[in-house]
Amino acid sequence: MAPRAPLIAPSILAADFARLGEEVRAIAVAGADWVHVDVMDGHFVPNITIGPDVVKALRPHAAIPFDCHLMIAPADPYIEAFVKAGADYISVHPEAGPHLNRTLKLIRSLGAKAGVVFNPSTDPSVIQWMMDEVDLILVMSINPGFGGQSFMTSQLAKIERLRTMIDATGRDIPLEVDGGVTPETARLCVAAGATALVAGTAVFRGGAERYAANIAALRG
Ligand code: DX5
Ligand code: ZN
Repeated sequence: MAPRAPLIAPSILAADFARLGEEVRAIAVAGADWVHVDVMDGHFVPNITIGPDVVKALRPHAAIPFDCHLMIAPADPYIEAFVKAGADYISVHPEAGPHLNRTLKLIRSLGAKAGVVFNPSTDPSVIQWMMDEVDLILVMSINPGFGGQSFMTSQLAKIERLRTMIDATGRDIPLEVDGGVTPETARLCVAAGATALVAGTAVFRGGAERYAANIAALRG
């Protein structure tokens, strides 16, 4: 069976920050499936970006799900604010706190979907004993912190491993890849078992008139 077309989640990290509402509307109209929001604290990663108030301000601009990628430590004290702001998926890095299972339960208890993000060095076994409590798996194919980096092909084997782990559950858990995704690397990700792709540079390049074509090119 041929792999299905992946969901596309443009990362607004590559959008024009002076016109974020307009940019979110433009990607939704251009066919984006989710809005990917990169939240950075200048501590867990060496960059500072967006907080819950910005998510709240952007939420009315599109009806598609907001996929919030938290690169902050600690994450737990801010999760309720992101849910209230309208986040649909909230993903955390295991390294951001001592109790990943507790964090996932907190996200679900507030009504959002709980994701786990794998840094390039993080092993799939970190979720081995909690597959029932994960609603999204996000594989970083770069080191988090900045857009515009090159895709790490070393992560393809990890995508394959996580695909096998998801299939064993019988649940349709999205397997998302983030970092250096281009039409070329997108194909490798989908062949390895990914079902959702984050892309900043590859979606936002060329201006709003290119967004639909850029998104279509990533779907393959
Ligand atoms: C980096 C972020 C990514 C980033 C991807 O920490 O998690 O979502 O925006 O950017 P590109 O697609 O340019 O590699
Ligand atoms: Zn991200």
